[in-house]
Amino acid sequence: MLFDVEPLPGDPILALMAAYRADPSADKVDLGVGVYQDDTGATPVLASVREAEALVLSRQSTKSYVGIAGSEPFNAEMTSLLYGDAGVVSDGRVVTVQSAGGSGGLRVVAELITSLRPGATIWVTTPTWPNHRPLLMAAGAKISEIRYYDASAGKIDRDGMMEDIERIPDGDVLLLHGCCHNPTGADLTLDDWKAIATLCETKNLLPFVDTAYQGFAEGLEADVAGLRLLAERVPEMVTVTSCSKNFGLYRERTGAVSIIAESADKVSAIKTHVLKTVRAMISMPPDHGASVVATILSDDALRQQWIGELKEMRERMQSLRQHFVAALTERGLGERFGFIAKQRGMFSLLGISKAEIDALREQRHIYIVGSSRINVAGLTVAKQAYIADALAETLAIA
Ligand code: LMR
Repeated sequence: MLFDVEPLPGDPILALMAAYRADPSADKVDLGVGVYQDDTGATPVLASVREAEALVLSRQSTKSYVGIAGSEPFNAEMTSLLYGDAGVVSDGRVVTVQSAGGSGGLRVVAELITSLRPGATIWVTTPTWPNHRPLLMAAGAKISEIRYYDASAGKIDRDGMMEDIERIPDGDVLLLHGCCHNPTGADLTLDDWKAIATLCETKNLLPFVDTAYQGFAEGLEADVAGLRLLAERVPEMVTVTSCSKNFGLYRERTGAVSIIAESADKVSAIKTHVLKTVRAMISMPPDHGASVVATILSDDALRQQWIGELKEMRERMQSLRQHFVAALTERGLGERFGFIAKQRGMFSLLGISKAEIDALREQRHIYIVGSSRINVAGLTVAKQAYIADALAETLAIA
């Protein structure tokens, strides 16, 4: 029998999301899945998205196929959001194709790497987003790790990271997070990007940058300054972008793969390989989210409205970080968790034990991913004192 199998454990993040939804407690707090929440705990559709959706529906005259590369207006807007007027764009060295969310893009790139450079290893940061491994390995990619985060110091282990990158065999692939590192919230500085660019150049490493949170750290431009710097230095590079978080389009599966090659001719050639890969995997990406994004970015008023909404989300998360650390400081935990205020984006790692994470969920209905990652957007003003008390009391018992 083919289907006489043992059940598998659920995905660590999505199973937690389901457990949270099923919990009837009025006290429950969702610090799990990386989905933005407002102060009421809701994840509303952005106003700019609602308006653009109405426009998309009113303008749409057919549901016929768009094409393997997806929406070309979307692809052009994503190239410009990522690379602005960088030389790689004016030189015609970038090609962008739409993907089924950032995850779909990661998988396309993994397929491309395993077919064009079989035997290459993709090096990921320790830790990294837990789904990186399964996604990339499902395409047959080999994965290894570089040091990245020093949990005891609450910051990047810079020396360890650079030493490990120096040891990566020539020709391998280095997977970096563009900004808002998931799960640590600890980002590379521009000096780090420069040093990494030098190593990628000298060792012929392919930089592969996962950018799922553009606009969530410091701003749309500042958040891609590092990857732009890298793009100007290396002959080849891949970036995967997600519109799940910054446009709040989670379920619409909207993302892109941008490839930089050595010349415009080489870009045209690599595009044919990307399209062949997409066709073999999903035939074509879904249209709705991409049409919404293209509509927003090509309309001055909608674009400004979206930039304002993005700023509001970013600044709220920054302020929640400050307030949460203040609440923890009042409970004598400021020194231990002060790093949360210095990190960026949606996540930080608390660095607490599995028993403590389980106790917070079972006794206090506070849902935290097993790595001790918290979603900062869930630290709502109304719940902060409850969460800080629960954490202080749980840690005191342990
Ligand atoms: C997360 O890291 O929580 C999000 O990117 C959602 C997911 O698919 O894991």
